[in-house]
Amino acid sequence: MIDKINQLKAEIEALKASKADEIEALRIKYLSKKGEISLLFNDFRNVAAENKKEVGKLLNELKEKALDRINELKEHLDNNSQDNNLIDLTRTAYPVGLGTRHPISLVKNEICEIFGRLGFSIAEGPEIEDDWHVFSSLNFAEDHPARDMQDTFFIQRSPDVLLRTHTSSVQTRVMEHTQPPIRIICPGRVYRNEAISARAHCFFHQVEALYVDKNVSFADLKQALLFFAKEMFGADTKIRLRPSYFPFTEPSAEMDISCNLCGGKGCSFCKHTGWVEILGCGMVDPNVLEACGINSKIYTGYALGMGIERITNLKYQVKDLRMFSENDQRFLEEFESAH
Ligand code: DAH
Repeated sequence: MIDKINQLKAEIEALKASKADEIEALRIKYLSKKGEISLLFNDFRNVAAENKKEVGKLLNELKEKALDRINELKEHLDNNSQDNNLIDLTRTAYPVGLGTRHPISLVKNEICEIFGRLGFSIAEGPEIEDDWHVFSSLNFAEDHPARDMQDTFFIQRSPDVLLRTHTSSVQTRVMEHTQPPIRIICPGRVYRNEAISARAHCFFHQVEALYVDKNVSFADLKQALLFFAKEMFGADTKIRLRPSYFPFTEPSAEMDISCNLCGGKGCSFCKHTGWVEILGCGMVDPNVLEACGINSKIYTGYALGMGIERITNLKYQVKDLRMFSENDQRFLEEFESAH
């Protein structure tokens, strides 16, 4: 018995293990109910009475030693895993605060949801575009001054690669491979070569809507616009349409809503006119339908486009456009309760 104890003692002193499951296996081997040390304890009753004291002492020491050694191995493993960078000291400390939705996303979602109720589904297109989708298919003539309406970022080496200046390009992308009825709403980011200031930025966001089917009329457009304005800005909101020009619509219009700050009485926000402009719209020019492979003798459509920042400003009176992209948490947290 004493030999066996000494043998186990030597074994335990030399134990090595670097993984948690190896350590656990050793614990089971020596210390579990059926482990080697427990078996010795079971045999203890067979030890002659005069040796019991000595053997008992040795057995207890052995058990102590085994416990110590296993704990030592465990501690070593824990320390090592810290060395292995399992703890990331650069991680944000708990509790990690819950983020808030960006005001542009809130307003974008709301616009899409309102048009969704009219049967529009979401369509998206690339931000890096080509001339055809952004200009030519939309009836911008080559060298037509209308191209100057939107200061475009071109890639110097390849003038056919450009950053889209409006989401109208998504109209073409969808019409090229879909026959009417088409009823889409296209949110996305657009880029223009503008000096950054409180009122202009080199990127901003738009939402485009397109409806093409048989017998779509200007009356349908006006009804959809009125519905949108009331849902977005409140039931008392009035709209007015002013004639305008866009290459891709004929006739074209710009829509104003009654100023929702002063209720139409006139204030500095609406420059004392009682009205604020919010979007461009019109009947899709037959040239655009034909360019996209849609028969303009059978189908008509309306389109509209608006800037999300502008709508957000109207809803939340954000005075400086730059706030939207500066990631100042104090600004973003103000929208915590807006849905
Ligand atoms: N693409 C125009 C712009 O960025 C906005 C626009 C006007 C879109 C009229 C339309 C539309 O679909 O019919 O200024």
